[in-house]
Amino acid sequence: MGLVTGVGLALLGHEVMCVDVNSTRVEELENGNSPIQEEGLEPVLAELLQRGKIRFTTSIETGIEQAEIVFIAVATPSLPDGGTDSSHAVTVARDLARLIHRYTVVAVKSTMPVETLDQLDSVLKERLIPGKQFDLVSNPEFLREGRGLRDFFRPDRIVVGSDSEPAFSVMRQVYQPLIDGSAELPEAFRTDTPIPYLETTPSTAQMIKYASNAFLATRISFINEIAGLCQRLNADVGAVVEGLGLDPRIGKAYLQPGIGFGGPCLEKDLTALVRLAQDNNYDPVLLDSVLQRNHLQLIEVQNKLINGMGPSPVGKTVAVLGLAFKEGTNDVRNSLALRLMKDLADSGATVHGHDPLAIPEAEEQFQDATYFENVYEALAGVDAAVVLNSVAEYRDLDLERVAATMKDGLLVDVRGVLNSGDVLSHGLRYDSIG
Ligand code: UGA
Repeated sequence: MGLVTGVGLALLGHEVMCVDVNSTRVEELENGNSPIQEEGLEPVLAELLQRGKIRFTTSIETGIEQAEIVFIAVATPSLPDGGTDSSHAVTVARDLARLIHRYTVVAVKSTMPVETLDQLDSVLKERLIPGKQFDLVSNPEFLREGRGLRDFFRPDRIVVGSDSEPAFSVMRQVYQPLIDGSAELPEAFRTDTPIPYLETTPSTAQMIKYASNAFLATRISFINEIAGLCQRLNADVGAVVEGLGLDPRIGKAYLQPGIGFGGPCLEKDLTALVRLAQDNNYDPVLLDSVLQRNHLQLIEVQNKLINGMGPSPVGKTVAVLGLAFKEGTNDVRNSLALRLMKDLADSGATVHGHDPLAIPEAEEQFQDATYFENVYEALAGVDAAVVLNSVAEYRDLDLERVAATMKDGLLVDVRGVLNSGDVLSHGLRYDSIG
């Protein structure tokens, strides 16, 4: 998020200095190499570096020397009790406070409860050099990993939460080139659609972010539950989504059944919201069940594999195709594929893994599996395979080769990317979600 925001702001015409504590990452970025898979990022980064519009440093002093606005985009992971670990943000605020030397807007991009925002405000105030001034602003980010730059330039909305008119004014200037269309952007990032710009209080801004992620998660759990019912009632969930989505009040977005929502955001934010509700003596029955369905969904996929392979998974081999938390990224943080692999290995199965982008990352997180660069090698001699995402490589699998290489032939097609008739006609067994 930090890198995409930095690159995005630089492309809007601002001078950007990106600060990170990881010196290897900073060095890589100075050389134009992105540590993350983001569509279109590297060419834009190279051009901005060449024009001197973006710089990278490990020194927060250098970073804020000339800054009028500081964006905080550090991670806010979950604590074991579901609360938000705001320690990185607090550390940044501590370091920042003593360096503020002119009126500075501190804009928080990271998702955090409003109490944490208040805590940052107190930390900054405690350490501020007397006479210096700042305003803390909440500016939540809605970008999706893998297509972050596109989301930055074509946002569905920009939300700014503050209690200060001068801070609102600075933030308007930051986003003005995007809102009035005056920024010179590559074709892929341009849009003629007006961008809604919302100004509100910090707590409302943060709640818009939490509610957005919670709603997306709710849609996914909803369709996963409907998919389970479809399968039991002999209905086709793909066709149900078609029919459902034609209602403009519903639409088709985020209604793709699967293994559940993974990744670093949806589950974390939903868990934090549940925790916030409980802390405020409010029973989050709906949000709680969205999380529960997500948990059950993983078990459902696991059971399909285990039951499909026979009485016991011991001595059986399963290939897991798709290791990143979603397609198009190499991010395996909170990837349900890795949880599935661990559960399968714990139950005695041998596990093979394949992903077009994320093998090194998966290998680092989970060593109890054999990883293959070639999908057909991953499938060789296995009793069952599960397809977890819809990359073209899986969609276009050569089923004749698959049938010849798999030992038994159970294909669990979680994303519905294969044609069940084709799979069956090759002598393979087929199962899916819904
Ligand atoms: C999510 C939100 O979509 C962004 O708007 C938000 O800014 C971001 O979190 C964040 O808080 O930083 P992201 O984590 O990149 O973005 O992932 P998504 O593309 O939303 O997918 C999340 C998970 O849901 C993935 O595991 C994906 O496979 C799954 N999913 C998504 C489904 O199972 N079905 C769907 O229909 C859509």
